[in-house]
Parts: sequence; structure tokens; C-alpha cells
Amino acid sequence: FLKRRKRWSRYPPGPSSLPFLGTMLQIDFHNPHVSFTQLSKKHGDVFSLQNCWSNLIVVNGFKAVKEALIQKSEDFADRPYFPIHEHLGYGENSAGVVLARYGHAWKEQRRFALSTLRNFGMGKKSLEQRVTEEAGFLCSAISSEKGRPFDPHFLINKAVSNVICSLIYGQRFDYDNKKFQRMLQLFEQALDEEAGFLPQLLIVVPWLLRIPGVQQSIFRAQKDVLEFTDDLVKEHRATWNPTQKRDFTDAFLQEIEKAKEHAGSSFNDNNLRMVTVDLFTGGTETTSTTLRWALLFMLLHPDIQCKVHEEIDKVIGRDRSPQMEDQANMPYTSAVIHETQRYGDIAPVGMPHMTYRDTELQGFFIPKGTTVITNLSSVLKDETVWEKPHQFYPEHFLDADGQFVKREAFLPFSAGRRVCLGEQLARMELFLFFTSLLQHFTIRLPEGQARPREDGHFATTLAPHPYQIQAAPR
Ligand code: HEM
Repeated sequence: FLKRRKRWSRYPPGPSSLPFLGTMLQIDFHNPHVSFTQLSKKHGDVFSLQNCWSNLIVVNGFKAVKEALIQKSEDFADRPYFPIHEHLGYGENSAGVVLARYGHAWKEQRRFALSTLRNFGMGKKSLEQRVTEEAGFLCSAISSEKGRPFDPHFLINKAVSNVICSLIYGQRFDYDNKKFQRMLQLFEQALDEEAGFLPQLLIVVPWLLRIPGVQQSIFRAQKDVLEFTDDLVKEHRATWNPTQKRDFTDAFLQEIEKAKEHAGSSFNDNNLRMVTVDLFTGGTETTSTTLRWALLFMLLHPDIQCKVHEEIDKVIGRDRSPQMEDQANMPYTSAVIHETQRYGDIAPVGMPHMTYRDTELQGFFIPKGTTVITNLSSVLKDETVWEKPHQFYPEHFLDADGQFVKREAFLPFSAGRRVCLGEQLARMELFLFFTSLLQHFTIRLPEGQARPREDGHFATTLAPHPYQIQAAPR
């Protein structure tokens, strides 16, 4: 490997590596974005690492990330292959969307997912009504806390995942449904299983998975999640009428029927579970974590919360539900939501990419097949772009007249070919849930409680540490 690396004279520089482990000990895998940003100060915006014998490149700052993801989108559109996911059923034509290699199966599933989610209302009035209705359930559940201190985490999770459940399984669950609660817990545990040093080591040294008991003990929740979704599909099949499309699962089952004559199609039973789990994990944890950050920032910045309340009262009032049309007249609230995504930084290292061909980045040579980490955190907090990168400052998205301004370096959904597939849905949910919550409540720190921490806990997403709120009816 080292001989090969020496031949690439313009390969990006990086820290010196140890035998076997390479540079792995230089990274805090519970805070990788922080390690990457520190290393970029010494080695530059594009630097190289070595996880055991596997090469990776880390791209930092708006300029370099933009070149990779937008200007050379296809060169960086592939995903690295993770043998650790094989035991979950990940294979050539059953790789879901998130982890699928750049090629026919990914294109087919991405196109299908986007068009099917649109058919079921993504970006339309029908889904807007579903989200508004769910926001109503969420506000009622919060009201029933009667001003007592509580942790909003699981209530928000339930509301957000019910939107995805409606799209995928055509049903929502009551918040006290035990099966639903168990499912959400498993999803969270499954994300935790991906974080830390050990999963990273297993990615580069997959034979360690052959040690008896390793797989079972490390990926237990991920297996349980798949079994859980299998049960939901089984229930669906039992009530399925091939002439009807109730939801995403029905639409997929129809494609499986059509594809039966085509060997090698990505529409197969195994891929149905992979794709639905992708939409579930992609669509629940991210959006609900962002809303948890939003409430935390409102609690920490009562002056900002007050301005949001004033705008809601002026544009929507107290008697009707918020609608997406209101957004255009609510620059301050929109700026607060954008700033929550920027400063909350919930997907700090995005998803790993891989070079699809030999390419160049910022003048460096990057060979085909190199794993590429886009440090989105370093873009959202790029000191050359943002006026106050390390503060919660909604004015980042407002001009001198208080009008909303888009910012090019606002990339929480990443960019290019692999840009988040659910961006439109997420934006709708963030606006409708956030405005509904603040229309009904003032969020306060319960008396006698210490100021919550503002730093996050990393487990695939960067989430706030647990905190309690008091929601006073307005
Ligand atoms: C991918 C962020 C909501 C489904 C991604 C990526 C990011 C991201 C950073 C990686 C892009 C890359 O590889 O460069 C977010 C954030 C969300 C959100 C911040 C909410 C605030 C959603 C929702 C859904 C979803 C609601 C589902 C409907 C996906 C899928 C991918 C993805 C399927 C993989 C795309 C591909 O590989 O082609 N998202 N996401 N996301 N997201 Fe989201």
C-alpha cells in the first residue's frame, strides 16, 4: 500500500500512520467532525487518512466540498462497500438507497422512491394536511403534560415517524402503542451500533466478524429492526389487493410482481426491507433531531423565541393551523429553522462517498475507489463564509431589511447526485411542526434546572444531550 501511495505524487497529505492501525488512533470516532476539523488546520482542506490499509480522504470547507459534490458530482457519487452490512441482507440488487453503489440499482430505487413519495403527497397539499394533523396530535400530547417538566425526545420522534409510517405503511400509530414505542427504540439503538471505534475497525477488517458472537452482539438492534419491518410487510401482504396502491409498500410489491421475469432486478423482497428501512432511518432520526435542537435553542434564547411568537401571531394568528404558504411571509421563522440546521449540524460528516473514477480535487490526485468523507460540519461552520459560525445567529439568513436570504454554504442535506432524497419532505415537516409547536406553547427551562448543554452527542447524527422543557400554553 505504501509503495502504491508513493507513486501518487499529488496524493493529499495527512498525519503519519502506525503499522496495522494506520491513522485510526488520531480520530475520535465519537466526535469525528471535531477531529477532522482539527486535522484540516494542520494538513489542509483535503487530507488523507488510513484506516488500517484502507485509504480515505477527508474534504473540508465550503470551497473544497462544493468542488467535490457539485462541480464533480459524478466523480464522487459512489459509496464504499461495507461488508459489515452483508449479514443484514445487503447485496448487489438489495442495497437499498443510502448505501447502494452508484449504478443501475441505485438509480432505479432513487427514481422510484422519489416518484412514489411524490405520488403519495411529498411536496403536495395532501401530505401537508397529514403533517398538520400529526402536529395536532403532538400538541395535544404536550398539553396533557399540563406544564410539568418533560423530555420532548420521544414525543417528537413519534410524531415525525408517524409521517413516514403513513407514507410507507399507510397508517399512523397511537403514541402509547407499545409495538410502535419498541420500534422507535430499536431504530435509535441501531444508529448507535454504527458509531464508535469498533464498527469502523470491522469495516476495514471484516474477517473479525467471523469470530463467534461478534456479529450477534454488535448488530443486535439492526437485526431486530429488520425483523420488525418484515412483520409489517407480512401484514401488508395479507391485506394486499394488487389493483390498489395504498402506500409505498404496495407500490413496491407491484414492482416486485412486474419484475418477476427479469432476473437481477432491484425490485425484490430483500430490497423492499432495505429501502423501507432506509427511508425510515433517513426520515425519522434526522428530522426529529433537528426539531429537538430547535426547541433547545428556543429555550436557550427566549428573545429569539419571542420574535418567532410575534411573527406567528402576525401572519397565522392563534385560530388556524400553519400552512406551507405562510412560509413566504415568515422570514424570521424561516431564518430560525435554517440556523437550527446550520448550528445544530445534525449530519456533521454526511454519509461516506467513494470516487467513481480517478479524479482531482483542489489540485490533488484522488484515485478511483477512494473513500471520501465530506465534513459537512466544516461547511456549516466555515469561518471564511459565516459571520458568527460558532453562535446561534438567525441573522445569517436575513438581509438588512429582514428579508430571508438563501446561503450557498447551507448544505445540511449535502449536495450533488447523492443529495438527501427527503429534503422536500423534511423542509415541510420542520416548518409545520415548529410553527405549530410555537403557536401553542412557550418553551421554558423548568425551574431549578441547570442550563442544558449546547454540544451534541454523535451517533451517526449529532443530537442534543437529554434535556427537559416546560411547555406553557399561550
Ligand atoms: C441522504 C440529511 C431527512 C432520506 C442524506 C444525506 C444527508 C441527509 C446529509 C447524505 C447525502 C450524501 O451522501 O452526500 C438529512 C437531513 C434531514 C433528512 C438533515 C432532515 C432534517 C430525510 C428524510 C428522508 C431522507 C425525511 C426520507 C424521506 C434520505 C435518503 C438518503 C439521504 C434515502 C440517501 C440518498 C442517496 O444515497 O442517494 N440525508 N436528511 N432524509 N436521505 Fe436525508
